[in-house]
Amino acid sequence: MFISDNLSVNEEGHLTVSGADTVELAEKYGTPLYVMDENLLRENCRSFKSSIDKYYGGNGLVCFASKAFCCKAMCRLALEEGIGLDVASIGELYTALSVGFSPEKLCFHGNNKTDEEIRYALESRIGHIVVDNVYELNRLNELAEESGIVANIMYRIKPGIDAHTHSFIMTGQIDSKFGFALETGEAYEAVKKALSLKNIRLVGLHCHIGSQIFDIDPFVKAAEVMLDFIAKIKDELGYETEQLDLGGGFGIRYTDEDNPVGYDKYMERVSARVKEICREKNLKQPFILIEPGRSIAGPAGLTLYKAGGKKTIPNIRTYVSIDGGMGDNPRYALYQSKYDAVVANKAGLERTETITLAGKCCETGDLIGEGMKIQPVEVGDIIAVLATGAYNYSMSSNYNRIPKPAVVFVNGDSSRVVVKRETLEDIVRNDVE
Ligand code: LLP
Repeated sequence: MFISDNLSVNEEGHLTVSGADTVELAEKYGTPLYVMDENLLRENCRSFKSSIDKYYGGNGLVCFASKAFCCKAMCRLALEEGIGLDVASIGELYTALSVGFSPEKLCFHGNNKTDEEIRYALESRIGHIVVDNVYELNRLNELAEESGIVANIMYRIKPGIDAHTHSFIMTGQIDSKFGFALETGEAYEAVKKALSLKNIRLVGLHCHIGSQIFDIDPFVKAAEVMLDFIAKIKDELGYETEQLDLGGGFGIRYTDEDNPVGYDKYMERVSARVKEICREKNLKQPFILIEPGRSIAGPAGLTLYKAGGKKTIPNIRTYVSIDGGMGDNPRYALYQSKYDAVVANKAGLERTETITLAGKCCETGDLIGEGMKIQPVEVGDIIAVLATGAYNYSMSSNYNRIPKPAVVFVNGDSSRVVVKRETLEDIVRNDVE
């Protein structure tokens, strides 16, 4: 009936998440409200972790891509679940460290890390930094020297795979701002350079082929390309990297049209192929890292809004306006991403209406979805937009000076605020005059 098994309808006909009544949550905490199912977050962390245990002898680490959903409570949850974190800015790093995250389980990404970020990462003794370009490598070497540290690094490699097509393709040179190209020899030269630097230790190679990918083949292909490169480095330079980070990108179900494969299947196939290639090429099986973001946080979240005006434009469409919008969920405005919505207080009814769900910003493109099939909506209803756990809170803004919603963790009958709703005072807190 709903896109995710943690959602149901109770006797009052209200939508429930992890057993909690969403209408009561909206009354208790106000709207708009980000609701995260804590059990599902934990389950998702565990299922990635156990897939590495099951298919790769536990020789790896799941690093949650914190860009998908970063706050102290989430970092603490990841810490408790024994997984690592991928951070992509000083803010994400600071959030992780502020809950006592084990620095050795942190990896730092980004195509233009500042000196401040590099110094902070070095001083915090994080696991490794994923270096994006030669300029950064040189700067890192200098800053590591200043601090008297040898920096563990990985290289971000462009494996030349385009997974965002109907059936994935290998392209020559992918036009991307991230990483080192393989086919031009850029990556190879960079490896030689890293091996020559005193304050750098190349521990592994990294790739990330995209996001919201449903097909396993491109991931397998990426592993093949990366292992070929590891073998070339070993044969020609006599150096064998120990770790292989295959990034994130596993697709989730936003609507009925999406059919993600079990993440277990991914690990099963990738592990089998990695082991095979290592045997063929006489390589040590690398320690494998994966960086799921969306697939851990996305399905665990939903956003509750209150419906305001309803406007029917004859023969064109019906707009239903909500008390949030692109400020708390910019994904339709940015990528035309589809979402499913439910009238939370009428969740047991049939979906007889087709609406455009509009936000409250002064912007025509401020929509959450078009052509959405939903239960009959009236002013004052609570509308739940589903699968908003990833890249909603983390990409939220204060456009129109709208305060950001609170984030609530739900765990069966109990719920708690983990990020407070912003106040009007928060809105002006950095204005100096
Ligand atoms: N690792 C690296 C190096 C990444 O760049 C990303 C995402 C991930 C892991 C996690 O990917 P995931 O498993 O979440 O697909 N704002 C966009 C998504 C941007 C993803 C950027 N990198 C969205 O809302 O769809």
